[in-house]
Amino acid sequence: MIRITEVGPRDGLQNEPGRVATAVKIALIEDLAGAGLRRIEAGAFVSPKWVPQMEDSAAVLAATRHLPVALPVLVPNLQGLEAARAAGAEEIALFLAASESFSRKNINCSIAESLERAREVGAAALAAGLRVRGYLSCVLGCPYEGEVPPARVIDLASRLAALGCFEVSLGDTIGVGTARKAKRLAADAVAALGADRVAVHFHDTYGQALANVLACLDVGIASIDASVAGLGGCPYAKGASGNLATEDLVYMLDGLGIDSGVSLSLLAAAGRRICDALGRRPASKVAQALAAKEH
Ligand code: HMG
Ligand code: MG
Repeated sequence: MIRITEVGPRDGLQNEPGRVATAVKIALIEDLAGAGLRRIEAGAFVSPKWVPQMEDSAAVLAATRHLPVALPVLVPNLQGLEAARAAGAEEIALFLAASESFSRKNINCSIAESLERAREVGAAALAAGLRVRGYLSCVLGCPYEGEVPPARVIDLASRLAALGCFEVSLGDTIGVGTARKAKRLAADAVAALGADRVAVHFHDTYGQALANVLACLDVGIASIDASVAGLGGCPYAKGASGNLATEDLVYMLDGLGIDSGVSLSLLAAAGRRICDALGRRPASKVAQALAAKEH
């Protein structure tokens, strides 16, 4: 069984040029839960000055909390943790970068400062009984610095695990990674943290996301992030295109005989509905093929 963390409502929508109505976000999460996804990242309690698209995360969470799914939310600092708790969040995600320049651009502090913050926020969240996930971005390359040393990635991932993250998601934020490098990094992370504590998070900028996932399955990775319709991008990673599309991932897993618990047809319908609302076509090749078959 593979665990999928659906990140569309957060990673997918955080980069939208226009405002997405709260009701549209709520309907998206309901559709995704209906398709069988069990972990759906619902929003981010970050500064609305930095990412205005996530400003309504409390309202989104309030309207979806009754669903039988985990609804993690991103939290950058104690202020965000307080707001997330007040909104009823039961799981948060801390996020650090493996590159100094990206850390500055994304959260306005150095890696060392971000670790200190993560330690503080993680401890407070765990003491309050929340589950804590960790994200590390730019693990296979940085939009400002280029190459990122794998040893630094493993060190930071280990630190996130040590401060109580049940799982650390390794993010190829700009989608530059290729299969051999991705597999080597995943293998090192599995050796350092254990297979059950490593997730992978690929963006599909260069069309490598699915190949990278397949390579990582070989080294025991069983937790994968994906975004319905391939929505997404990071506001602080210029040129980064969407995430690995959940439809593409589920189609591949189905073909490999690996259970993900997700209905591809319901998922594709969820993707079509959000894309209709956004006025665009799903980026997922599988979604496009299924739509073409229906016409
Ligand atoms: P700062 O400007 O250094 O912070 O930002 P500050 O403490 O000086 O606060 C500035 C203002 O923001 C203040 O308001 C605070 O109250 C407010 P003012 O006094 O000016 O009116 N503020 C907040 N408001 C609401 N919630 C909060 C909060 N914190 C401060 N939590 C900060 C530092 C970290 C806040 C900012 O840089 C930030 O919010 N960054 C978030 C950026 C972000 O969300 N990026 C996208 C997610 S990461 C990602 O996509 C990668 C990932 O997907 C993995 C991958 O793809 O690889 C995870
Ligand atoms: Mg991402």
